[in-house]
Amino acid sequence: MRRKVIKAVFPVAGLGTRFLPATKAVPKEMMTLVDRPLIQYAIDEARAAGIKEFIFVTSRGKSALEDYFDTAPELEASLRRKGKDDLLQTLKQTNMESGAIAYIRQHRALGLGHAVWCARRLIADEPFAVILPDDVIAGEKGCLQQMVEAYEETGGCMVAAMEVPPSKASAYGILDVEQDLGHQVKVKGMIEKPNADEAPSNLAVIGRYILTPQVMRNLNKMRSGTGGEIQLTDAIAEEIQAGRDVYGYRFRGQRFDCGSKAGFLQATVAFGLGRNDLRDEFSHYLDELMAVRNAAQ
Ligand code: G1P
Repeated sequence: MRRKVIKAVFPVAGLGTRFLPATKAVPKEMMTLVDRPLIQYAIDEARAAGIKEFIFVTSRGKSALEDYFDTAPELEASLRRKGKDDLLQTLKQTNMESGAIAYIRQHRALGLGHAVWCARRLIADEPFAVILPDDVIAGEKGCLQQMVEAYEETGGCMVAAMEVPPSKASAYGILDVEQDLGHQVKVKGMIEKPNADEAPSNLAVIGRYILTPQVMRNLNKMRSGTGGEIQLTDAIAEEIQAGRDVYGYRFRGQRFDCGSKAGFLQATVAFGLGRNDLRDEFSHYLDELMAVRNAAQ
């Protein structure tokens, strides 16, 4: 019987410089799509996939994340006094069972691989998920749940994968495909941020991973890769060299790159239109905006 994936690592130590000045005082994971911070979408996706232990790798200036997942006794008492049961209900999604969430500091920004390695003692000898909250994925079934179901069949390491235009390959980890099995691809190599002419395919790694504990041992070697950083991609590629299976998983759903301003705006529009309480007013506004734009052309 394969061991269930119940632990997830959330690397949230990044400085978020692309969103300065906002991120001077607000962690980028706390920026909101409509009314929920990015981290809430990541946690919900993990919960739906059966994750029970949530490990945040943080850095200085991220204490808002800890407060967000704590109880807020004064706020809750005030809402209760006023009979605002709907808002009390809304706050419930931020409640974590005591001991279910752990915070570890990455003391130096040495790369994504290093951030994940910081969680090694809590992961111990179990398979685990990694979720990058910048990548928001909308879909009927959460991306991580789809992957957990596929992993239960295959084992090995698995990364979420998506086709990207060749000109964008240098922004991602890119898969070298051995065998295309449809939703899944068997991978024979992975390269972090290749030049466009060196990309082995147009299949990019998106920020969802299911990894074996051996990946942590590979990270122990602290090999630096692209950009002088310790890359998670390299530690996974090492598994292939050791003769173990690595899969890419083409998920169903729409991915938004909320690490970029354009992607964040697109996600805001899509999630705004997805909300029953906003759809009518918001789509009316967008229609009007388009009509004015088209008339001006
Ligand atoms: C990270 C990974 C990269 C992956 C990407 C997905 O890069 O290193 O392999 O394709 O996330 O969003 P980053 O975007 O943090 O530079």
